[in-house]
Formats: sequence, structure tokens, C-alpha cells
Amino acid sequence: MKELLQTGADLIDTALERLLPSGDAVPASIHRAMRHSTFAGGKRLRPILTMEAARMIGKGSLPHGVEDLGAAIEMLHTYSLIHDDLPALDNDDLRRGKPTCHVVYGEAIAILAGDALQTLAYQTLAGLHCPPAATVEIVRLVAEATGTVEGMIGGQVLDLEGEHSKPTAESVDAIHRAKTGALIRVSLVAGGVYAGAGRDDVRRLTEFGRKAGLAFQIVDDILDMTQDSAQLGKTAGKDLASDKATWPAVFGIEASRRDADRLIAEAFEQLAPYGRNAETLKALARYLVERTH
Ligand code: IPE
Ligand code: IPE
Ligand code: MG
Ligand code: MG
Ligand code: MG
Repeated sequence: MKELLQTGADLIDTALERLLPSGDAVPASIHRAMRHSTFAGGKRLRPILTMEAARMIGKGSLPHGVEDLGAAIEMLHTYSLIHDDLPALDNDDLRRGKPTCHVVYGEAIAILAGDALQTLAYQTLAGLHCPPAATVEIVRLVAEATGTVEGMIGGQVLDLEGEHSKPTAESVDAIHRAKTGALIRVSLVAGGVYAGAGRDDVRRLTEFGRKAGLAFQIVDDILDMTQDSAQLGKTAGKDLASDKATWPAVFGIEASRRDADRLIAEAFEQLAPYGRNAETLKALARYLVERTH
């Protein structure tokens, strides 16, 4: 697992290094801000999921150029983190073990750096090395998953509006599936589409991604309560302090752990038809819930 994560992260870092404008390109402030957050030491889990889904659908071989798709997804994820940390949202000053983008570059540049990572992601998607029909489908899926209807932005809105009101099973489920689950789901589905997935494959990856994506955010909530800031690279205990709607707040920590494990076990059922080719994706999904940061 360690090697899979390291090799995947290296591939993505190399692609991001090539795709992001240099820190000297004018205007340097925004390019430095984009690079500050992108290269601050993220786990690269979404792009690794993308590549492993592509490898599974590609019957064991990694399709040429798929790391650019992964890099675009990582840009979108990083943009969501920069904005998530802004004073108007979660107001965090630590991310990926470093001061947040707005702390270093100011709020205006941080907002624009998030915007710019989003536009660069679509520029990157437009140049993917896969058949044009697959490219268009990937752009549509990614835009939808990061959008307002059951997508990342919509989830962030629900998350903010849910502060200081008592969360319910329904509300926290909707928040988590949208703010985090949707991008994880599309990371998998887009990787599959890149590798030529058929309708059944897309259905299976979608269902797998739904469950794994929800499990991922449940674990994020648990870690916020159980780890310290040094371990997480972000401020621990923040959810309780901000009165956030979290899975443990509704179900308690033990049931949350069981729910995450159960979701991963259920997710695995979708991968049965792929036999040995699904092994790395399964190992990765297990890691999503067993991780400690
Ligand atoms: C953190 O995601 C934000 C959530 C959506 C929960 P990750 O835990 O994948 O963060 P990085 O990319 O490794 O920093
Ligand atoms: C983040 O959820 C979701 C997105 C960034 C879209 P959180 O607010 O729980 O993420 P962390 O804990 O700050 O990483
Ligand atoms: Mg948040
Ligand atoms: Mg946050
Ligand atoms: Mg969190």
C-alpha cells in the first residue's frame, strides 16, 4: 500500500509540476499561491483512485496520460480546500501541515488562486489523451460532481448552513455525500470512462464511489475528534468548536467506525466481476477508512 500511494503521488506531482504555471510567471503572486497549496503535501487519494479505477477497467494496465486526469481532479480538490479554509467558510489557518493559502497570500489572492485552480482543471481536462467523446463525458461528470445539485459546492452550502442547528441522520448524510462523496465518486468514474468503461462499469464504479466517498468523510469526522493537529496537518477538534454537522455528532464515534467499515464492505460487492484486477482498488478503499491522517 505504501508503495502504491508513493508511486501514485509521484506520478501526480510530476504532472502537476508540468501543468501549473511556474512561480515566476506573471502575475507571480497567484502562481505562488496555487503552488503553495497544491504542493503542501496532500495524500493525492482522489487522483490515485482515478488511476486505479482506470487500471482496473484497463485490465491491469495504466492508460497513457491518465495522470493528467488525476492532476485535474487534484486541482479541483485543492481549490475546494483553499476555499473551505477561508475566513468566510471554516476559517482555518493550518492545511497540509502548512499555513493556509489566505494566511500566506491574503484573502483576495487565495480566493483567486482557488478560482484559477478550477479553470486550470478544465483547461487540463480539455486536453486529455482519450477519445473526444470520453473527454466531453468526463467534463460533464466532473462539473456536475463539483456543482450545486448534490455536488461539492452544494454540499459546502449545506455544511455551512447546518452549523449551529441540530444535525439529523438525513441532513448529515446529504451533506457528506455532496461535499466530499461526489468528488470521490467522480474520481473513480472518470478514471473508468478514461479507460473505456461501458455502462455496467460506470454503474458499478458510481455505486462503489458513493459508498467509499461517504465512508471517507465519516472517517474525516472521526479523525477530527481523535487525532491531534500535528498528525492531521490541519486543526484538530475544529468540527466540535464550529458546531458542525458530523457523523459522530449524530451517531457517536463507535457507530461511525462501524458505518465506515460496513460501507467499504458493501462497496467491495460492486467490484466482484473484476476479480484480481480489482485488488488494488479494494486495498485503497480499505486504506480510506483505516488511515490515521
Ligand atoms: C480533506 O481531504 C478534505 C475532505 C474532503 C475531507 P483529504 O484528507 O484527502 O486531504 P489531503 O488532500 O490529503 O490534504
Ligand atoms: C471539506 O470538509 C469538504 C471540502 C473541502 C469540499 P471539511 O471542512 O470537513 O474538510 P477539512 O476537515 O477542513 O479538511
Ligand atoms: Mg468545511
Ligand atoms: Mg474544513
Ligand atoms: Mg473535516
